[in-house]
Amino acid sequence: MNGNSDPRLPALGFGLGLRADHYEALLDKPHGVDWLEAISENYFVPGGRPRDWLRRMREQYPIVLHGVSLSIGSQDPLDADYLRQLKQLADETEPAWISDHLCWTGAHGRNLHDLLPLPYTQESVAHVSARVREVQDVLGRRLLLENVSSYVEFKASTMPEWEFLAAIAEQADCLILLDVNNIHVSARNHGFDPRAYLAGIPVRRVQQFHLAGHTFQNNLIIDTHDQPVSDPVWDLYADAVRRFGAVSTMIERDDNIPPLAQLLAELDHARAITEPILRAAA
Ligand SMILES: [Fe+2]
Repeated sequence: MNGNSDPRLPALGFGLGLRADHYEALLDKPHGVDWLEAISENYFVPGGRPRDWLRRMREQYPIVLHGVSLSIGSQDPLDADYLRQLKQLADETEPAWISDHLCWTGAHGRNLHDLLPLPYTQESVAHVSARVREVQDVLGRRLLLENVSSYVEFKASTMPEWEFLAAIAEQADCLILLDVNNIHVSARNHGFDPRAYLAGIPVRRVQQFHLAGHTFQNNLIIDTHDQPVSDPVWDLYADAVRRFGAVSTMIERDDNIPPLAQLLAELDHARAITEPILRAAA
């Protein structure tokens, strides 16, 4: 992989997270869904029913795989069995790309089932970058890393989150899944400027956007994925499109899942924001 050329893959348009509630409706290929993002671990069992659904979806849509358990930031060794299962799923599904989160999810062999932030230090950059390269060697392709939302910060951090993410993307020669809602959530919780975040991310590394809803609890915004996308996140999304261009965009909804029509309306809203910006830039 050559780090000097533009590493981005062709954009897929506007997609949705693949959720069991919408399996049947999605098989009818509703207008407006260009691609689907499947949670990798839900489809690991070969021959299982979820895998069969995924195969049927793949006949109709481009698919990307999105993991939650890679734990790229952990001090534990990378889980060879996990990587073997992910590679096997990828070989069968032929996803357009594979992503996971810039976080750690456990230590000493225990999974905490949470996407935990890292200290933003040069030592962490080197640690994570080396592990991303290992994963990319196993998968034979670039990985996308997603920025997570956070509620606490490490005193040890020596750089802002965007500088940390950008440094890893360059050192590991990987791609970025920019979650616009997570930027908004973390900016509000930690008091940084979300536009400074966008400005600090290299354009040629951004392959995908996530959009999602959040809720307010005890002075914090929590990244709950159970609400429609909020107005400030739509505004930040418009700024992201101005900076990064036609990036594949997806709505994430994991709880309080509405009828498909509501998510299609949100995708149409994303299109309506994007089109005039791209037209003006052309
Ligand atoms: Fe996300």
